[in-house]
Amino acid sequence: MCGIVGIVGHSPVAPLIVDALKRLEYRGYDSAGVATIADGVLGRRRAEGKLVNLERRLDREPLDGLIGIGHTRWATHGVPNETNAHPHFSDNVAIVHNGIIENFSELRDELKADGYAFASQTDTEVVAHLIAREMKHGAKPEEAAFAALKRLQGAFALAIMFSGDEDLIVGARSGPPLAVGHGEGEMFVGSDAIALAPFTDAITYLEDGDWVVVRRSGAEIFDMTGARVERKRQQSIGTSLLVDKGNHRHFMEKEIHEQPEVISHTLAHYLDFAQGGIRELEMPFDFAAIDRLSVSACGTAYLAGLIGKYWFERYARLPVDIDIASEFRYREMPLSPMSAALFVSQSGETADTLASLRYCKSAGVPIGSIVNVRDSTIARESDGIFPTLAGPEIGVASTKAFTCQLSIFAALAVRAAIERKTVSAEESARLVRALSEAPRFASLALKVEERIEEIARELAQVHHVLYLGRDTNYPLAMEGALKLKEISYIHAEGYAAGELKHGPIALIDKQMPVIVIAPHDRIFDKTVSNMQEVAARGGRIILITDSEGAARASLDGIQTIIMPTVPEFIAPIIYAIPVQMLAYHTAVVMGTDVDQPRNLAKSVTVE
Ligand code: AGP
Repeated sequence: MCGIVGIVGHSPVAPLIVDALKRLEYRGYDSAGVATIADGVLGRRRAEGKLVNLERRLDREPLDGLIGIGHTRWATHGVPNETNAHPHFSDNVAIVHNGIIENFSELRDELKADGYAFASQTDTEVVAHLIAREMKHGAKPEEAAFAALKRLQGAFALAIMFSGDEDLIVGARSGPPLAVGHGEGEMFVGSDAIALAPFTDAITYLEDGDWVVVRRSGAEIFDMTGARVERKRQQSIGTSLLVDKGNHRHFMEKEIHEQPEVISHTLAHYLDFAQGGIRELEMPFDFAAIDRLSVSACGTAYLAGLIGKYWFERYARLPVDIDIASEFRYREMPLSPMSAALFVSQSGETADTLASLRYCKSAGVPIGSIVNVRDSTIARESDGIFPTLAGPEIGVASTKAFTCQLSIFAALAVRAAIERKTVSAEESARLVRALSEAPRFASLALKVEERIEEIARELAQVHHVLYLGRDTNYPLAMEGALKLKEISYIHAEGYAAGELKHGPIALIDKQMPVIVIAPHDRIFDKTVSNMQEVAARGGRIILITDSEGAARASLDGIQTIIMPTVPEFIAPIIYAIPVQMLAYHTAVVMGTDVDQPRNLAKSVTVE
């Protein structure tokens, strides 16, 4: 989950590498580093913490050189300090790495026995030493890199440079993505096309098991047998998507406020607003012909899938198996030949989701994916994609990608219901109408922000929070808890409201805020009973509801956040907004690093 970049250029590369790393910081921000070669000598600057520390270091001690590699790190092996920061060196080899070398400890023992000393605790350093040892035995740089690659097990993307050759970077991919960028008399490698956007939009993606020799004149790609392979060069669609915070304090705040617009863009791809129907789309599978749908994803994307399950089963009578991808990939689930699989990922690079996709693919199941990054690995390996048109999501806490994923699930559920003939024409028209109103209701939902700020000031004082919801608001309760813990570091749990009395009610006391997500719907009264159970034990209730719900749940001491009255079908899309704002404002009051919370990374390309 680190970001890597390499440039064989014709002007000093260090500032260009830092610029590219800024676009990769979403992949990790524990440390960063750059190495270049100038006059045959390797030079390196590294710094613990965010990229800004590396920039300061480079201001004080600039680096010359027309060739270089850079890295932004999410620590796996070894604490996040400068010694463990990449690039790592061994003799005349410099290397940056994203991923995990699983057999590193056996390789390290072997290299130590051979006299190699280790400066860091990283798994990466073994690769540098392996290559250096091959070169010491007379191998040319490319041969040495290839020989070392054959010894590695695990998931990795690498960029390697050699002080004896200022026109060579070797890249490799086994798992995490690596893109080659083609310029005019200069060439690039990077973890994704967005990193290379300022330099080129002509991109070649390496496939799993590929390695590449990059020189100013071009790139030659090989597979793991050493045979030359051709990979197509494509025009990247990520290039125009540049990012800044506008007038907002944080990317997360900006992304929360973008939701009416991006939900509308996304829905316009799936719904015909004018005719009130569903658009014809190229589909990876036929909803009428399948008997089950397997959905798999991680984190927030998984919770979007869980809400999708309610919709598919309720409206299209299509049974959905939903799994956290890290469980799905190993649980050896039997897949019916009549089934289809759907994967959900903002980044399109999440390792566990990708592994689940490949499991389904090997079983011959047709694959669709809901992705935000259209040229990501998950998108490319799917039979068909359902793009979320959320634009780049930079805040580590997912917000707009989530509501766009939900919008697609809702649209697909209606489509499936029509194709499976499980709803009448009037019912499907009613659902499409409700969905078309989501952008407008999302705008109205943003208006509760002031009330949320008041409540956030109180939430910032507590150590534990419980979120409750029923039906589609149950996964939303889990999403609220995930959001709060990831950016404010307050411990939070999301529960199905009916499950409260089966255990969590024991936690309730005067200190414990219980956030209840309950629009006034079919089962609202059931949730009121659960709130009464909390109130009877002195719990502090914060109810997110509409005016009808607020009127019916007038319990002593209850605090309410009053939302617009929305159709029940789209409630989770709209109620996601106050839930996100509550986490955001609590984190702001607490002064945490909202966009880059500790220990996390935006794109999780390791298991
Ligand atoms: C949510 O706020 C997260 N930071 C995280 O749970 C995320 O949703 C998860 O890692 C999945 O990422 P993906 O959508 O890029 O696959």
